[in-house]
Amino acid sequence: MGHLRSQVGRLSGKLLAIRVWLITRKSSGLILASLALMSSCAKGSLPLKRTVVRPEQIEQPQKDQGTADIKQQSCSLQSHTDWQHFLEAYAHDDRWGKTCEQDCDTQYVQFVQQRIQSTFTACADVLHADPILTSCTANFRSFVSSWLQLHAANSYGFSLSNDQYHQSQEATDKPLGMMTVPPELITALPERSQVEHVARKQGWKYLTHVSAIRGTRTMIYIPDSSSQFDRWLLINYDHDPNRVDTHSDIAFLAVQKQSRSGQKLSRFPLRFRDYHVSQSSAGYQLSLSKDFSGKCFACHPSGVRPLIDIITPQTSAKPVSGESDFAMDDAAPAPDGFARRRLNEFNSILASYGLPDWEGMVAPETLGPALGGAQGCTNCHDGKRRGALSIVTSWPHIEQKIAGELSMPPQRRLTRLVEKRLMHPDDFSAEDAATLAAGIELQTQTQRAFAAERLPALAAWLTEHRCD
Ligand code: HEC
Ligand code: HEC
Repeated sequence: MGHLRSQVGRLSGKLLAIRVWLITRKSSGLILASLALMSSCAKGSLPLKRTVVRPEQIEQPQKDQGTADIKQQSCSLQSHTDWQHFLEAYAHDDRWGKTCEQDCDTQYVQFVQQRIQSTFTACADVLHADPILTSCTANFRSFVSSWLQLHAANSYGFSLSNDQYHQSQEATDKPLGMMTVPPELITALPERSQVEHVARKQGWKYLTHVSAIRGTRTMIYIPDSSSQFDRWLLINYDHDPNRVDTHSDIAFLAVQKQSRSGQKLSRFPLRFRDYHVSQSSAGYQLSLSKDFSGKCFACHPSGVRPLIDIITPQTSAKPVSGESDFAMDDAAPAPDGFARRRLNEFNSILASYGLPDWEGMVAPETLGPALGGAQGCTNCHDGKRRGALSIVTSWPHIEQKIAGELSMPPQRRLTRLVEKRLMHPDDFSAEDAATLAAGIELQTQTQRAFAAERLPALAAWLTEHRCD
């Protein structure tokens, strides 16, 4: 174990997740301060320090101008050479690579709006009139609007404002009840035992586990009786692993499988929501905010997320009403190996949905190249088998998958060793420790190589077609 610890200690301080998984074994509550910015699903990642203001941002303070005003501005870039310089000047900026889980970087967002997006707007006619300019700026233009959307300070990062997004999920063409958290569960708050009791009684399968990204949570699966949609809830226990905090959030998503009239959809749209939990004299309530800003797509590029395939000392589940081994008595122990079976079952249901229909709410193809080619990631993350990993995919989360969980690219042997160390530390031999240490070393190299490729790959794609 000490050996392992020293291996881990050599990793970059940013690889917080390694400590989560391999050093701090009790993960509930201990790890991370919650960030107002984060979604309830994602409060695990640490923010980086805010960046200092760069000179170019001070030189020309411009007011945020409406599109109409900007269009009135004359376009200062006319020649093909001007455009080539423009693209090259802005493509190579490391701030493109900072994802909102680190810091949405409002100063850089403003800079991109005022210097880059406004130029494209003011020059729309020039660009439109010249096929070479249309084509050489196409990647950059589409990228900038998607990137800005995924760095907006007060939205989930989808193309609609949160209010519009929430409303669209309950429009008259959507299945009834799809976005509702069953009132029985709200009444059961805040005790975890009560939440689990209600789930068991209602026949809603659940698993309490240690999240890949933060403390203990209960994941509950609630299909609807007519198979139009499935609901998934993540109930977070922030400070006490047995109790929901008075102010916390429940991450929610519905997988819509059929239209309201009952036609099966070929790809399933996902309906994300963060529900805020609060308490009043009338009991617990859930509410929505127009300012939730956790970027769901940043960690859900392939849609729903399987659970990390690791049993920890906190992992637990019991049969629910309707299952053959269900026992009314809450004190009855779970059958042997039940939590593992539940985890596998959940993961196969989650895998069965396939890639979602984003319905134009995000446009993955505008987010630059699929990253991780040299590390073998695009063998699976190619945008078809799984979502592509792009420059807006949560960077702390990618680091965590590679060098924290040691789970990407998937390596069963390493995953089983991480689990063994957590569950059977007495059997964890020196040989196991050496294998794990070698795995950590290799994964760290993969992580570094991936990191080094990210920005150059983006810049090459942004300037893929020359203007001159
Ligand atoms: C930092 C990464 C991250 C972000 C950002 C994120 N999630 Fe998740 N989410 C995960 C992981 C990892 C899982 C798998 C469950 C686990 O490990 O606990 C997950 C699972 C879920 C689940 C359970 C169903 C499933 O797919 O497994 C829901 C519901 C959910 N997330 C909702 C949301 C919502 C809503 C948002 C945006 C407001 C969001 N998530 C943003 C990482 C993230
Ligand atoms: C053999 C196929 C395969 C390869 C290769 C692979 N992945 Fe994955 N990846 C998966 C599967 C399956 C999941 C879902 C299970 C999970 O989240 O652990 C996943 C999930 C992820 C996620 C969460 C987002 C998502 O798509 O659900 C990230 C981030 C990720 N992988 C990063 C990487 C990186 C980085 C590499 C390369 C170093 C890589 N993966 C290589 C199969 C693969």
